[in-house]
Amino acid sequence: MKIFSRLLSSKKILTIEEIKRKPVPVHVAIIMDGNGRWAAKRGLPRLAGHKEGVKSLKNTVRLCSDLGIKYFTAYSFSNENWRRPVDEVSGLMELFFETVSSELEEIVKNDVKIVLIGNRKSIPLKVRKRFEEAEIITEKNDNLVLNIALSYGSRQEIIEAVKKACINIRNNEIEIDNIDEKYFSELLFTKNNPDPDLLIRTSGEFRISNFLLWQIAYSELYFTETLWPDFTDEEFLKAIHSYQYRNRRFGKI
Ligand code: IPE
Ligand code: IPE
Ligand code: MG
Repeated sequence: MKIFSRLLSSKKILTIEEIKRKPVPVHVAIIMDGNGRWAAKRGLPRLAGHKEGVKSLKNTVRLCSDLGIKYFTAYSFSNENWRRPVDEVSGLMELFFETVSSELEEIVKNDVKIVLIGNRKSIPLKVRKRFEEAEIITEKNDNLVLNIALSYGSRQEIIEAVKKACINIRNNEIEIDNIDEKYFSELLFTKNNPDPDLLIRTSGEFRISNFLLWQIAYSELYFTETLWPDFTDEEFLKAIHSYQYRNRRFGKI
């Protein structure tokens, strides 16, 4: 019966009001994939796909606010993406710079707090500084926390956290036996964030690509064939709707 009603409801157009009738995830994370293929399908350069992807991101952030989602983590550029051709990488860095610059006013107006997560040292200074300015300006905002994962790699994040723990042990700030999940979580870039309730990946790829490996231990996963630039409100509401019908057991019965 449950499956039948789910099939029926998957066909109908979902509205924000309907979705808000049931609890929405507190933290949503997204692997925004498929920009390159979106551009290739149109005979456009890959960067055109990335530019179109920014529109989807802006739209999704707005929808998060409307739905009352409190944390949103967007995978924008991975550690491994540095291996891409120089032109694409520099085009993306410029796009990040332009986007933060042009959107900052709107971000402030909507009470959104920007947090950069990733290996800051590898980000070109101009881009990094712009993000850090945005972080300072939006520090006190609390409608929505928007984590931008840039030059982000989860394995590297975990290694950095292990190093920090070792230093803290050496400085007698903590005893080995007192290191637990909570303590370790606070050494990650995502400290102060609850773990994602829902992880979405677009473009029909069924993998995690070094994203939030520790944090997604009990996240619900949602995959869609839709390429990121084609990701609409309807798609996002569908993902949230699917989440609302999951039975999260956390190992219990
Ligand atoms: C995601 O789209 C954006 C980044 C990884 C920066 P892709 O650029 O990976 O697009 P596809 O996967 O090649 O289509
Ligand atoms: C993951 O996408 C990274 C981002 C979306 C920023 P990729 O396109 O880099 O992932 P793979 O290489 O297909 O696993
Ligand atoms: Mg990709």
